[in-house]
Amino acid sequence: MTAKGIILAGGRGTRLHPGTHAVSKQLLPIFDKPLIYHPLTTLMLAGIRDILLISTPEHLPLFRALLGSGERWGLRIGYAEQERPKGLAEAFLIGEDFLDGRGCALALGDNIFYGAGLTGQLREAASVGDGAVVFAYQVADPRSFGIVELDRSGRPVSVEEKPERPKSDLAVTGLYFYGPDVVDIARDIRPSERGELEITAVNARYLAEGRLRVTRLPRGTAWLDTGTVEAMHEAGAFVRAVEQRQGLKIACPEEVAWRQGFISTDALKELASGIGNEYGAYLRRIASSEWG
Ligand code: G1P
Repeated sequence: MTAKGIILAGGRGTRLHPGTHAVSKQLLPIFDKPLIYHPLTTLMLAGIRDILLISTPEHLPLFRALLGSGERWGLRIGYAEQERPKGLAEAFLIGEDFLDGRGCALALGDNIFYGAGLTGQLREAASVGDGAVVFAYQVADPRSFGIVELDRSGRPVSVEEKPERPKSDLAVTGLYFYGPDVVDIARDIRPSERGELEITAVNARYLAEGRLRVTRLPRGTAWLDTGTVEAMHEAGAFVRAVEQRQGLKIACPEEVAWRQGFISTDALKELASGIGNEYGAYLRRIASSEWG
């Protein structure tokens, strides 16, 4: 059972300047919550409570101010610096002590997942003892992502990072589950042409060893990215539309912690009492809802 998770929230967000000039992109709101709540609750839904957040030295104190020790949500959140953006796979080297020989999930700080059945897929992926599990999602612009090609039986045959001529339209999403040897593999790979330790190089190694499993996310799942101002705005509009229609929140850590049994109903009410706006009213409402 994978018990540990890493959230990588580094990067300078230059594509979103000036909006991210003084603040981390992952702290910007997606409608009613900071973007970082999305990967955080994704890990929580996978049953993961022990989490390392990696960010730049400038932004780390801001994440600490927002998330703290995680205790109020029944989590344990630690923090580590990535001084320069040297690639996603560096997360495993930075997190080596934290992982302490265990497997882990890596969630990119700017990926948003939403959809029915997702929790079951996450839980299954989190039970990977050995090897790797990644998620594939059909996209209209496959040149912008890591791309996986599958054979007829759904087994991966190739993985490539942002290929000029994509062999499929299946993007590898920013949520990865690995067995304990991911640290050794990350240590072994070499930087790419753009000078980064690519997560795709890690996945290619698992593929070469016949230990990469790919789970396809169905079209009813939303996988949104937030790489541009337009994408940020669209993600906010999506969250707003779903939340306002159902009267339920997406990526609400207090609610997820409660529904997952990480905190009690009394603890949820206590959290709600400290938030004097619509968000707090929502927590109070779910805590006393007769529909559960
Ligand atoms: C990264 C990965 C890419 C993956 C994507 C998902 O790209 O390198 O393989 O498909 O995240 O969000 P980036 O968006 O950091 O360029």
